Amino acid sequence: MADDSTGQTLHALADERRTFPPTERIKADALTVDTSLYDEAAEDDEAFWARQAAELLDWDTEWTTVLDWQLPYAKWFVGGKLNVAANCLDRHVAAGLGDRVAIHFEGEPGDTRTITYADLLAEVQRFANALKGLGVEKGDRVNIYLPMIPEAAIAMLACARIGAPHSVVFGGFSSQALADRIDDAEAKVLITADGGHRRGSVFPLKPAADEAVESTTTIEHVVVVKRGDNDVDMVDGRDHWYHELVEAADADCPAEPMDSEDLLFLLYTSGTTGKPKGIMHTTGGYLTQVAFTHKYVFDLHAETDVYWCTADVGWVTGHSYIVYGPLANAATVVMYEGVPNYPGNDRFWDIVEKYKVTKLYTAPTAIRTFMKWGVEEPAKHDLTSLKVIGSVGEPINPEAWMWYREVIGGGECPVVDTWWQTETGGIMISPLPGATTTKPGSATFPLPGISVEVVDEAGNKVERGGGYLTITRPWPGMLRGIWRHPQRYHDAYWGRYPGRYFAGDGAKLDDDGYLWLLGRVDDVMNVSGHRISTTEVESALVSHPAVAEAAVVGATDTTTGQAIIAYVTLRSGASDVQSVGIDDLRNHVAGEIGAIAKPKTIYLTPDLPKTRSGKIMRRLLRDIAEGRNLGDTTTLADASVVDEIAARATATPQED
Ligand code: WT7
Repeated sequence: MADDSTGQTLHALADERRTFPPTERIKADALTVDTSLYDEAAEDDEAFWARQAAELLDWDTEWTTVLDWQLPYAKWFVGGKLNVAANCLDRHVAAGLGDRVAIHFEGEPGDTRTITYADLLAEVQRFANALKGLGVEKGDRVNIYLPMIPEAAIAMLACARIGAPHSVVFGGFSSQALADRIDDAEAKVLITADGGHRRGSVFPLKPAADEAVESTTTIEHVVVVKRGDNDVDMVDGRDHWYHELVEAADADCPAEPMDSEDLLFLLYTSGTTGKPKGIMHTTGGYLTQVAFTHKYVFDLHAETDVYWCTADVGWVTGHSYIVYGPLANAATVVMYEGVPNYPGNDRFWDIVEKYKVTKLYTAPTAIRTFMKWGVEEPAKHDLTSLKVIGSVGEPINPEAWMWYREVIGGGECPVVDTWWQTETGGIMISPLPGATTTKPGSATFPLPGISVEVVDEAGNKVERGGGYLTITRPWPGMLRGIWRHPQRYHDAYWGRYPGRYFAGDGAKLDDDGYLWLLGRVDDVMNVSGHRISTTEVESALVSHPAVAEAAVVGATDTTTGQAIIAYVTLRSGASDVQSVGIDDLRNHVAGEIGAIAKPKTIYLTPDLPKTRSGKIMRRLLRDIAEGRNLGDTTTLADASVVDEIAARATATPQED
């Protein structure tokens, strides 16, 4: 493969030979211990998914056609009607599970809330009525910009209940990023909070929400959840306190029967251009896939399990594996508001012990951070309740995988490394705890009903060795498009290899047919499991008045997976480093996108290496950032630029 960092990863993984078959403990009561699901799906994937849709969900109206596939547009369970909130709440309460805990909420300061399925249903109905009272109708878009508090799930479910697609924006994004997403979705209502708790203090959200609303034109009402207790300005007639609306709302709100293909939500994610894309997910197929994968990948025993996914609801992992998958399966979930190191580095393990968490789902970047903090932190707590431990968001290196298995899982818990994307809606490649022999660092095999192939540059199938990951058959949770940009949908995912969905990831098949995911092969970075495009950060940098040009690359980082490195040329007249501080530039990016997009290091340079046609040579800049020998520079317009930059790159990095 052309990509050097991928080449290095390939090399590092080539020697990984350890294997871990399912333990007797897990096999004793696992939902599946053999290949029967795989065999069934291989026989007829549509029939397989139809069986899951029928068994896992309640439908108001049966579908007439399982799959209508007009490449690249899929419709699943055509003609079927159902409501997502009714599937996540009403039917469980009707089945006598009203007293089961749906959400154990743990606030960062240590406050807690226990919300049963009956409580959640009651609250969702009231808030759904409140939204209707603000004029929200079926099909209207609602933006959600909240901390990790139960109201985030309540807001999503209330939208789903009345058929208003939601667009959740991660609370760490800036007001500008929020405004872009409000504009693109033309959202009518924004649901936010005064503030939330993070690392021991209150971070305000309402001022950013206000700024965004002022710079956009479509928001008619703002709902504000009281959480941080920080002072906020409430605009008369526009802004409403959540608790007042809910208190005044009617208790009964019937769930709107939705078409299987009605839009459930938009979720914006970075692509290779400067503009995030609104990924469209619909109702029946999405819920089928997240319910199925949540059940089997985590070997769910809903009566006894306590399941904790540490993601934020602002990302797809939070949508699919905090809210929709687990609640569709009547699971008990833990929801935690804050950071892993408040008040101490053992907060996660404290939570696991306190709630007797049985299934844990977290990210490699967190695992590597815990490794740095040392085994003494988890050792302070009893983690023996754990049964299955999952990983998502980026490739997990074998060392982190082994540490997770041994130190957190006590050598007894299957590790499920799950590969998927915002676009896939649900997990695509993962072991099944009772059935799959794992290898440290490998996501193993596609799940039943999922068809993937690794191909070479030319699109030919690769049987063994490295290449590009493609998906060859439609799947129920797949994105249905990019909001308002059908051509971009076509080009970004289906244009490169005819008839195949191209995921943007490199992958390798080993001699036993195991899949090893190698990270992105496009201009998308993965920083702590967060997806950020190089172009987006470049646009943010050049929007600073002093910046003439910027090039951004993701360089390998031992904790965050990749780190953002920027090379910036200043406008003449602004070339004095004193007048434009590096920190001004870094903060400018945080203001444009959010703190997660702050470059770790910025190098000021008089010029950027370009090809003769004017394309910035990012690969070369990544070589410099990662301290590698420089490859071929003969296509460069001006080769001396590279020496200059390489000399400057010996400067001390400017981390936080
Ligand atoms: C990209 C998708 C899936 C929810 C969180 C991220 C990378 C994700 C893995 C994994 C190797 C992984 C890929 C993918 N990725 N999981 N288990 N092993 N890489 O969702 O923001 O849409 O990012 O994350 O590169 O393309 P996302």
